[in-house]
Amino acid sequence: MTPRRLNLPDTAKIAVSDVDGRIHAPSAARNAQPILEVLRRVAPVRGTALEIASGTGEHVAAFATALPALIWQPTDIDEARLASIAAWTTDLANVRPPIRLDATVPGWSEKFDPPNLIFLSNLLHLIGESEARTCVTEAGRLLAPNGILLVYGPFKRGDGFASDGDLRFHQDLAAQDPSIGYKAFQTVQAWQAGAWLHPVDVIEMPANNLILSARKPA
Ligand SMILES: C[S@@+](CC[C@H](N)C(=O)[O-])C[C@H]1O[C@@H](n2cnc3c(N)ncnc32)[C@H](O)[C@@H]1O
Repeated sequence: MTPRRLNLPDTAKIAVSDVDGRIHAPSAARNAQPILEVLRRVAPVRGTALEIASGTGEHVAAFATALPALIWQPTDIDEARLASIAAWTTDLANVRPPIRLDATVPGWSEKFDPPNLIFLSNLLHLIGESEARTCVTEAGRLLAPNGILLVYGPFKRGDGFASDGDLRFHQDLAAQDPSIGYKAFQTVQAWQAGAWLHPVDVIEMPANNLILSARKPA
């Protein structure tokens, strides 16, 4: 299967350092702190955390710095981003070297030990419905008992959109590829429920984003 590589809207704003491969994404820098505030409330204090689609690595670098007793495993599908993650996290003892992962391939969960936390940000609207469902289902399968899955991003509210800007973003994505675009948060919760998880909360985040949290029974 050909890995999906999208020219995401943020890509135009990304600057690549020519020194060590670090990529900077303004959106990741912007939303790291609000996400971190949620992690401080709901993430396990210690244990292991798997990040799916880590992107530039700025998120995992911020989270691992602020939550030093959690051991983080970043992943991504894209080689340039894997290099960037490695550059951002090289000095952090609680971040393992990044691993290449296509989170849309059934069975990917078998490659990992069960983590206490799985964090996924800004991927589900960029992939198709069945790919997104696979990603969530595999995460549910993998999570350790009592573990928590946090899915951050833009979502539809039922059949509607949170704002005209969200509708436009969805339409831009669908124009690039009609199979992708926003998923309803209720749909993602149904996938979580079908994947051995209990949906716990829908947390409103800046810019109409949500964090969907779900827990695996102990
Ligand atoms: C919009 S970026 C989000 C990055 C980061 N999570 C954030 O919120 O800033 C989407 C990321 O998903 C990765 N990606 C795309 N398709 C993927 C797949 N099938 N499996 C895993 N990662 C994928 C891209 O390489 C990119 O790093």
